[in-house]
Amino acid sequence: MAKELYALGEHPPLGEVPAKMHAWLVREDRFGEPLQAWKQEVVDVPAIAEDEVLVYVMAAGVNYNNVWAGLGVPVNVIAARNKAGEPEPFHIGGSDASGIVYKVGKAVTNVKVGDEVVVHCGTWDRDDPQAQDGKDPMYANSFRIWGYETNYGSFAQFTRVQDHQCLPKPRHLTWEAASAYMLVGATAYRMLHGWDEHAIQKDDVVLIWGGAGGLGSMAIQIARAQGAIPIAVVSSDDKIDYVKSLGAVGAINRSRFTHWGMLPHWKDQVGYAKWLKGVREFGKAIWDVLGEKKNPKLVFEHPGESTIPTSIFVTETGGMVVICAGTTGYNATVDLRYLWMRQKRLQGSHFANDVQAKGVNDLVIEGKVDPCLSRTFTYEGLPEAHQLMFANQHPHGNMAILVGAKELGTGISAPLSAREEVSAVKLPIHTPEEFYAQPRVALSYEGTAAFAKDATKVRDILHAGVITCTPAMPVDEVARLLVDYGIHAVVVLGSDGGAEGVVSQTDVVLARQGRTKEQIAGMTAASIMSPSLLTCRLDDSVTDVVTLMTSKGVHRLVVADERNGRKVPIGVVSMTDVIRGMIGAPSDSSKCLCRDAN
Ligand SMILES: NC(=O)c1ccc[n+]([C@@H]2O[C@H](COP(=O)([O-])OP(=O)(O)OC[C@H]3O[C@@H](n4cnc5c(N)ncnc54)[C@H](OP(=O)(O)O)[C@@H]3O)[C@@H](O)[C@H]2O)c1
Repeated sequence: MAKELYALGEHPPLGEVPAKMHAWLVREDRFGEPLQAWKQEVVDVPAIAEDEVLVYVMAAGVNYNNVWAGLGVPVNVIAARNKAGEPEPFHIGGSDASGIVYKVGKAVTNVKVGDEVVVHCGTWDRDDPQAQDGKDPMYANSFRIWGYETNYGSFAQFTRVQDHQCLPKPRHLTWEAASAYMLVGATAYRMLHGWDEHAIQKDDVVLIWGGAGGLGSMAIQIARAQGAIPIAVVSSDDKIDYVKSLGAVGAINRSRFTHWGMLPHWKDQVGYAKWLKGVREFGKAIWDVLGEKKNPKLVFEHPGESTIPTSIFVTETGGMVVICAGTTGYNATVDLRYLWMRQKRLQGSHFANDVQAKGVNDLVIEGKVDPCLSRTFTYEGLPEAHQLMFANQHPHGNMAILVGAKELGTGISAPLSAREEVSAVKLPIHTPEEFYAQPRVALSYEGTAAFAKDATKVRDILHAGVITCTPAMPVDEVARLLVDYGIHAVVVLGSDGGAEGVVSQTDVVLARQGRTKEQIAGMTAASIMSPSLLTCRLDDSVTDVVTLMTSKGVHRLVVADERNGRKVPIGVVSMTDVIRGMIGAPSDSSKCLCRDAN
């Protein structure tokens, strides 16, 4: 008689499904960082529909989406599903898996019990009109990411999937390596191959942000498999050998440049010229890697706000920037002159359809794409793996967790027979003589316009003193400070005297939105502050500070002193101060903008 529950690593006889299973779960009452959110429990094995498959999970891949699921933001996935009619008060995450088919629904024909599979994470209703007649199901209203937007992902002994999600496991891979690549690999494959006339071609130059990361490591290999010329962007030199080993012809260390972030306002001639100098130097770095003046036909984007202006600028005329995330922020600024005059395309992309998932799986089976597995955790290590990712301390490439597999290195059923070596692309080496290409159209900021230098420093126009609060100050007390002092923002100071964030009038007003007075009463400055404090220094030029304010859309900055790695606020500089400086008016110290409230 079937056992009700099997221990981890104790495989049930093939095809025998117990009533219960071990699983890692998130519940609403423990939303938070991964170490807090994820707990081991025993739950019922889910039933399957006629087009579904129950897979015994051997290993599971780690992705950022289940950091979000544990935090409960930006979406409470449990509440969202409860609202949609699913009763389970928990979430079993996991959007990558390798495993063995244990049960199939009666309409399933593509896999059978005993098949070794990997699972892609795209799901949709098979009756969805968008998913029928050969249309791309990625545009279906019913599209959901399995193991994030759906329950019963791969962080359990059994996972419930739709039949079309199952693809053959590459036989030369261990269970853990096979579980590590599909989500990032298929996403990268769609980005590079999925957009008609912009699909990657042999000899196309492709610029790949985060080349040593999960997506980037896949993108480099997929591009090389196509005969294209990938250039990686990384943040430190120690990653350069790694991205070259994957097939990048070279890499650019982004920490050498400082022009990141939203574009300066186009009316800010000085700020724009400075940005242009930075982005041209970055473009020249691409040429230096290539040894010729060739621009990327494709730019593979995911950092977003910080890098989009650069990506659009360096893309070749008629080329495409394709983006699947906004890790550094969502306000992508675009100089439309480059977009329309150079007929560039900015294309959003999200996961992949069956054809694209098969596309990357075939490349893995052929040995042209390596899963880039960097670290495998035991089943108990699942929260730690996600915590590392949350803290951005995870290693290069991709991580996996053993579930049904008892030890590392199992699951290989055949060697890789004819591994196709991707030969290095040989490029002619010569130094570019010309400066980075300009748009051919006459744009107002072209040329080497001489700007009148303004020597005014922040210290010349500063309001000394800042109004501060503690992180624990209740929101209504912060609101009172803002009103009593007639100020727009309060700096939140940590116990070490360093600034931890800022609470603006907007933060206070938004805290009120959708909440009762009682709910607000329990909130503190720390819970509503903006942690990224925009600061400048006493000796910064007012010109640079104006560029920073206009590009970020703010009217004032905290002036801070760096002391032992802490930013200690010493004053505030505002647009009003700049105008006062322009007309030689004395600073308005009668306004209580800058008295210390502590
Ligand atoms: N829509 C989808 O279907 C989909 C699918 C998969 C992933 N994603 C999203 O895509 C993003 C990346 O995923 P991943 O798995 O590749 O993450 P990852 O392994 O953490 O890699 C991200 C890389 O981005 C680079 N990076 C970080 N900050 C940057 C900045 N300010 N400017 C430029 N580059 C920066 C880092 O490389 P360096 O520091 O070396 O530059 C890092 O290696 C995440 O937000 C993820 O949620 C979306």
